[in-house]
Amino acid sequence: MTEAAKEARERAFAPYSSFKVGAAVLGGSGRVYTGCNIENASFGLTVCAERVAIFNAISSGESEILAVVIVAGEHTIPRPCGACLQVMREFSVSGESLIIKVCALDGSCDTYSLKDYLPMPFDLNEHRGEQ
Ligand code: THU
Repeated sequence: MTEAAKEARERAFAPYSSFKVGAAVLGGSGRVYTGCNIENASFGLTVCAERVAIFNAISSGESEILAVVIVAGEHTIPRPCGACLQVMREFSVSGESLIIKVCALDGSCDTYSLKDYLPMPFDLNEHRGEQ
């Protein structure tokens, strides 16, 4: 998955930030899906590599994701943004135990769980019945 994320990073469209990110997602079926960040001249329309990979998996028929690998930066380990964490939570059947591996291009990696990054996610079920 780390190699797949690195390859996807090469396809990043990042002319505005020059910060290329690649991601690989393990779907519940065992298949791996990739994504890269795709920027836009209207900056707010940019989509992160993680969400591209997750949407790739879900639109290909997966209903859950088990792990995410993110590759960016020469020597600095990247961190997923809050929006991507909330999207990961949506498709993590294992709840907050989803594995998130973050790697720099020099090969250094750290592995966390979704709960490490997002200990108190928004959960609509907790508000059911409320106005
Ligand atoms: N980016 C990602 O692809 N993933 C993240 O987790 C954080 C940021 C991208 C978005 C934008 O294209 C560039 O990195 C700089 O913010």
